[in-house]
Amino acid sequence: MKHLLKLLDLSPEEITELLDLADQLKYERKNGIAHPHLKGKTLGMIFQKASTRTRVSFETGMVQLGGYPLFLSSNDLQIGRGEPVQDTARVLSRYLDGIMIRTFAQKEVEDLAQYGSIPIINGLTDFCHPCQVLADLMTIREYKGSFQGLKMCYIGDGNNMANSLIVGGLKVGMEVSIACPDDYRPDAIVLDFASKNGHFTMTNQPVVAAENADVIFTDVWASMGQEGEAEKRRIAFAGYQVNDTVLSAAHEGCMVQHCLPAHRGEEITEEVFEAHANEIFDEAENRLHAQKAVMVKLMAH
Ligand code: CP
Ligand code: NVA
Repeated sequence: MKHLLKLLDLSPEEITELLDLADQLKYERKNGIAHPHLKGKTLGMIFQKASTRTRVSFETGMVQLGGYPLFLSSNDLQIGRGEPVQDTARVLSRYLDGIMIRTFAQKEVEDLAQYGSIPIINGLTDFCHPCQVLADLMTIREYKGSFQGLKMCYIGDGNNMANSLIVGGLKVGMEVSIACPDDYRPDAIVLDFASKNGHFTMTNQPVVAAENADVIFTDVWASMGQEGEAEKRRIAFAGYQVNDTVLSAAHEGCMVQHCLPAHRGEEITEEVFEAHANEIFDEAENRLHAQKAVMVKLMAH
């Protein structure tokens, strides 16, 4: 594993290895055991979109690993003024030991990896959010013990989260169902993967998708960059809320996960969110541990 560009690139074994390492790093962190695997290394963090969790968890994670995180806002970089990503990749490869990037086009992340010579980590694109889903899988395994026989359900926009959850869920052996409006389906590449790998179903009826689910996910109806479509999307997704009716179709003890930020009253009700707040904030915490595992795997040599 040289980069983390998308979960489609990872084998099930590589995902399991990352989750095992994340568990170990979490245990060490909780027990005050230092783990300076990246002493003297520098991670550049390029942000072309806003972030709370990704920025803070990568930044503090790098410090906990003994390394140095460098926050690079695209507003202050020449990349924001049109310097090609191919050149940025070759320059930054001479200074840094790894790059985390959050941007719009997946191609930009793939280009960084192609032209640079250091590990690249995708911190969210319009296509996927692999770091988030590694943390999500870690949280499910923490609560349920294993993925064996579990059904994951996603309700809402067929966006970056949906794309990564489908791939990640199927790769670790879960059954995956998704409910989304017909005009907001996941990416065709992901649907093609899903049709050939494991047990996957897609419907436009949330209660059908939620039937016997062990974990239900949702995400915002308008992602970063889609703010102008918010009103149109509120109408299109009106029937796609995670609420008590949806949950009553699921297995007893069904988890609810949300990558955050959440819009209460839109994709999830206040009641469901608060009833599952522990799981949701454990999920947010696990970003730290899962990403530290990714950085150690990619950068510690
Ligand atoms: N879930 C997530 O990636 O959050 P941020 O946008 O705050 O980084
Ligand atoms: N789908 C959301 C996820 C935020 C973490 C977005 O892209 O804005």
